Amino acid sequence: EVIDGGGRVLLPGFVDLHTHLREPGREDTETVESGSAAAALGGYTAVFAMANTNPVADSAVVTDHVYRRGQEVGLVDVHPVGAVTIGLKGEKLAEMGMMAAGVGRVRIFSDDGVCVADPLLMRRALEYAASLGVVIAQHAEEPRLTIGAVAHEGPTAARLGLAGWPRAAEEAIVARDALLARDAGARVHICHASTAGTVELLKWARGQGISITAEVTPHHLLLDDSRLETFDAVNRVNPPLREASDAAALREALIDGVIDCVATDHAPHAEQDKCCEFAAARPGMLGLETALAVVAQVLVEPGGLSWRDVARVMSERPAQIAGLDDQGRPVAVGEPANLVLVDPDHAWTVRSDELASLSANTPYAEMSFDAKPVLTLLRGRVTARDGVAADPGENR
Ligand code: DOR
Ligand code: ZN
Ligand code: ZN
Repeated sequence: EVIDGGGRVLLPGFVDLHTHLREPGREDTETVESGSAAAALGGYTAVFAMANTNPVADSAVVTDHVYRRGQEVGLVDVHPVGAVTIGLKGEKLAEMGMMAAGVGRVRIFSDDGVCVADPLLMRRALEYAASLGVVIAQHAEEPRLTIGAVAHEGPTAARLGLAGWPRAAEEAIVARDALLARDAGARVHICHASTAGTVELLKWARGQGISITAEVTPHHLLLDDSRLETFDAVNRVNPPLREASDAAALREALIDGVIDCVATDHAPHAEQDKCCEFAAARPGMLGLETALAVVAQVLVEPGGLSWRDVARVMSERPAQIAGLDDQGRPVAVGEPANLVLVDPDHAWTVRSDELASLSANTPYAEMSFDAKPVLTLLRGRVTARDGVAADPGENR
């Protein structure tokens, strides 16, 4: 088949280091199947499925199951993220070696929802990770610093009286784990960087030669705390939407390479968990089907990132960070490729009920964008085309 890509932009398939698929445990909000369709439609050929499932992905039984489900569905390579500890608030390190050696070949370990707040436990986790050659993805949220705090020190959250994660809750962990990674000879990856201060800490740590990488979400690049004025729970997310000056610093850092990549933190939630009061709603927002459109709008169209740079931040760097050798790189002639064809001029409006995700908690509902992935190929097979995902199992 000859595909006419005229006027479109051909990029390596996107790699998402941070996706919540909710299987096992909350299959009413997302499954490996529905999340894989959303990923394919978003131009992704690989996603890393976060560990805060139920049961928690803290053993090879769970991580291998998630990996196998991804293979059966066959729309995107689903790489399980393993939990660092047994249980999300665990005090005991998980058998990371068993998960790394399983069929799911876990390369990234994390505790999402709750970071490893105990510094001693984190030091041991980093030493263990260094011995295995795997990465620790740190959510950089010190839960004890949320007590008595507002979402950030900025005027909006304080005026609205919104409780949440202050900047220090993030930055203290970034600084701490940069130092612990240095001493352990480990690699640490900072999830969803959200403050200007984190950007400064990343520069400092890099200057020290510390092996630290970082991601930023599309929503922290585009949205800010002015969104919170309406108290609409769809805007509740961890880390919270911060000030416009933070978003500007994050954009600058992505352009400069201080932040390595974009990751969605795709976090599906049921309507009943999002319809209540702001403070009671579950944190998180959808991201897979809108990430490219948001990045194009906030950074490509105004200048800042070229399409070449988009390949870097959405495909090459995340593939390198995760140690994937079959993603995010040019392919030789005749080799099955992971590719996405993007139409930069597609004018579309996000409708929450038209997304492939089983959930509808997108902050972009009724917003219009220009760019859209129109064709995704996983190892040469079509996984999504013109807004329709291929049937699960079809490509196996
Ligand atoms: O907003 C968030 N949602 N942040 C997290 O760290 C967890 C995630 C989720 O699982 O819903
Ligand atoms: Zn997180
Ligand atoms: Zn997350």
